[in-house]
Amino acid sequence: PELKAMVGLPDFDWAARNYLPLQNYTYYRNGAAGESSYRNNLEVFGRYTFIPEVMNDITKIEDSLPTTILGHNFSAPFYISPCAYGFYGHPNGEANFVKGAAAGKILYIPSGYASLSIEEIHAAKAEGQVVFQQLYLTTNDTEIQSLFDRSKAAGADALVFTVDAPIFGSRHRAARLDWDYYHKLQNMTDLPIIVKGIMSVKDAKKAVENKVPAIILSNHGGRQLDGAPSALEVAIDIYKEAPEIFNQTEVLADGGVRYGTDALKLLALGVKAVGLGRPFMYSNVFGQEGVERVIELFKKELAVDGANVGVGSLKDINAGFLNLSPNSWH
Ligand code: FNR
Repeated sequence: PELKAMVGLPDFDWAARNYLPLQNYTYYRNGAAGESSYRNNLEVFGRYTFIPEVMNDITKIEDSLPTTILGHNFSAPFYISPCAYGFYGHPNGEANFVKGAAAGKILYIPSGYASLSIEEIHAAKAEGQVVFQQLYLTTNDTEIQSLFDRSKAAGADALVFTVDAPIFGSRHRAARLDWDYYHKLQNMTDLPIIVKGIMSVKDAKKAVENKVPAIILSNHGGRQLDGAPSALEVAIDIYKEAPEIFNQTEVLADGGVRYGTDALKLLALGVKAVGLGRPFMYSNVFGQEGVERVIELFKKELAVDGANVGVGSLKDINAGFLNLSPNSWH
């Protein structure tokens, strides 16, 4: 297919399904077990509607997309989530995400199970480009220290520790994550360590108590625990039970975000930026240009959808624009 025929993010799923070897597509597309969390991640956005406001000046909304994540400037409140095995989409693998993210001035978080090494990924960066690094940890402290040191030496600006996948491969260490363990890790590096995979208000509160600088609400794209809640549901619970959390740590969120409206619902609750996984993996069938196209399309959707909700600036969107009672017609 031609890249210009791709007019929305779901088109890239279609392209990948048709043009990647089936087993590569299946690896990206997979959800755990009966895939109810995978489906819920996509469908939950349809259960919550906006409360739009009309007659607001929306002419400058495009200028309001830029934001910061851990103090770093980006052109939009969305980023490329860490996903393993970039080679399944394109022979250049993760290099296309690094370069695409540089061109679109958004954050990229490479996976600890990437096709390229940490050094190769960070070597592909543009000058001044901010890239974080996701890591899976082993039971061996020497190995962990080496991963931290390699990430720092390669130029990573922050680390992401994924806690929602404790029993896959050698991730048993994360099963013992308690918060003392987080402190131990944080003492092994001067890079900030973000915790990815928070799925309850209780754990979000604990992260705040333990001074985690940013958390990612995520059920791993519905690939780990089938039955895990979506980021939107967790964000709504946080908003209702402990809204101060959104000011106490930077809250990021991912899972099923495919439309500008999906992202806006999360931003309305206080989420700082949203991550997209599969849309970017699929876009890599077109190489770096595909990655750039997703960024461009999603920025446009955010601006147009924000204007239709009735905010003059994305910074003005808040929970008052969202009906927090799920509709029954979905
Ligand atoms: C992932 N995800 C993931 N997360 C992580 O922390 N480390 C990893 O190595 C991977 N690997 C991975 C591979 C593939 C193929 C997918 C689809 C996902 C989870 C990822 O970071 C993110 O949470 C989800 O992808 C978000 O959901 P969507 O946008 O794919 O629906």
